[in-house]
Amino acid sequence: MSQPELPLVLIGFGNVARRFVRLLDETADRLDFTWKVVGISTKHHGSVIDIEGIDVTRAIATVESLQSLDRLDAVPRERSGIDVIRQVTDLMADEAGEGRLVCIETTVLDIDRGEPAVSHVRAALEGQAHVVTANKGPAAFAYHELEALAESVDRIFFFEGAVMDGVPVFNLVRETMPALTIDGFRGVINSTCNFILTELERGKDFELAVAEMQARGIAEADPSLDVDGWDAAAKTAALVNVLMGSAMTPHHVARTGIRAVTGLDVRDAIARNRRIRLVASATRQGGKVRARVEPEVLDRNDPLANLEDLENALYLNTDLLGQVGIVQRSGGLTQTAYALLSDLARISQRLREL
Ligand SMILES: NC(=O)c1ccc[n+]([C@@H]2O[C@H](COP(=O)([O-])OP(=O)(O)OC[C@H]3O[C@@H](n4cnc5c(N)ncnc54)[C@H](OP(=O)(O)O)[C@@H]3O)[C@@H](O)[C@H]2O)c1
Repeated sequence: MSQPELPLVLIGFGNVARRFVRLLDETADRLDFTWKVVGISTKHHGSVIDIEGIDVTRAIATVESLQSLDRLDAVPRERSGIDVIRQVTDLMADEAGEGRLVCIETTVLDIDRGEPAVSHVRAALEGQAHVVTANKGPAAFAYHELEALAESVDRIFFFEGAVMDGVPVFNLVRETMPALTIDGFRGVINSTCNFILTELERGKDFELAVAEMQARGIAEADPSLDVDGWDAAAKTAALVNVLMGSAMTPHHVARTGIRAVTGLDVRDAIARNRRIRLVASATRQGGKVRARVEPEVLDRNDPLANLEDLENALYLNTDLLGQVGIVQRSGGLTQTAYALLSDLARISQRLREL
C-alpha cells in the first residue's frame, strides 16, 4: 500500500494533542502516511465531527481562544468522548475495517480508576479503531484487559507517551528485546518533580517551580498528581503491568511524594555530597512484584543523582542483558507529541506490510 491515509479521532485536545497535530504538519514530508482529523472531543470546549476532514488550524484557534468547537460542526450537539468515538467508528466503519482509523486519546489522568480514558480506549477498539494514547490511565489500570481486546480485534493499543515522553521504553522492549525477562527497574520518571527538586537546590521557591511547570504545559492539569507522587505511581504501575507481566494499579504502589521535601533538605543533601531525587522502582520477590515511589537520598555517583531539571532515566534489570539504561535529556510537549507520532508511524508501517 502506498501512503495510507489515516483518519484520526482526537479524544482530548489540550497541550499534547494540539502540539501533536502541529508536529504532524511540520514533519509531513518525513512521514509515510497522510492523515486527516475527523473528530475532536473535549470536556469544556465542545466537540466536532466531520469525516471529510476538520480544519485543524481553525480548531486549534477556536480552543486557544476559549471558544467551543461546536461552532465548527455542521450539526452541533452535546457529545461525550464515547459518543464521538461511537459516531466516528459508525460513520467510518469501512476505514475502521481496513485498519486505518486511529483514536488518539489525550484526556487528563484520573487517578481513581483511570476513567474515562479506559472506556475511551475500550470503545475505540470495539469500533475497530487502533488506539494511541499519552494517558497513563489505560496501561496503569487496565493494560491486560485492553491489550487482550486489541489482540482479539487485531488492532494496536500503544501508549509510548505514557512514560518518559517520546523516548522509547515500551517500543524498545517490544521491538528489540525478545525472549528476555525484566526482573525490576529503578528510575526518575516524573519531570515536574525533578524540576522542582533541582530548583530547590538552586534556592528557588517550591510553588514558583510548580507554576513554571504548569505554564510550560508539563505539570499535570492538577499538579498535586505530580507532587504527591501519583503520576510516578501511575507510570510505575504501567511499567510493571507491561514489562513485568504483573497486574497492578497505581494504588498498589507504595507512594510518598515530594511535598514534604524542603529547600533545606536538598541543600543539606548537597553539602553531604548527596542528592534527593524522586525514585520509582519495582522488584520481583518470589512470585510477587513490589513497587514504590519515594524521595531517596542518593550518593553522587548514583546515575539517578545526576539528573537535573526535566531529565529522566530508567534502568531496567534484565536476565539476559543485565542492566539497560534509558536516559531522556530533554522532555516536554514536543517529545510527548513525538511519542504519539511514532506510535502512529508504527500503525502506518503495519498497514504497508499487509
Ligand atoms: N503535558 C505533558 O508534557 C505530558 C507528558 C506525557 C503525558 N501526558 C499525558 O497526556 C495527556 C494530555 O495531557 P495535556 O497536557 O494535553 O492535558 P490538557 O492540556 O489538560 O488537555 C486535556 C484535554 O483532555 C480534554 N478532556 C478532559 N476530560 C475529557 C473527557 N472526559 N472527554 C473528552 N475530553 C476530555 C480536555 O478538555 P477541556 O480543555 O475542554 O477541559 C483537554 O482538551 C494526560 O493524560 C497527560 O498525563 C502529558
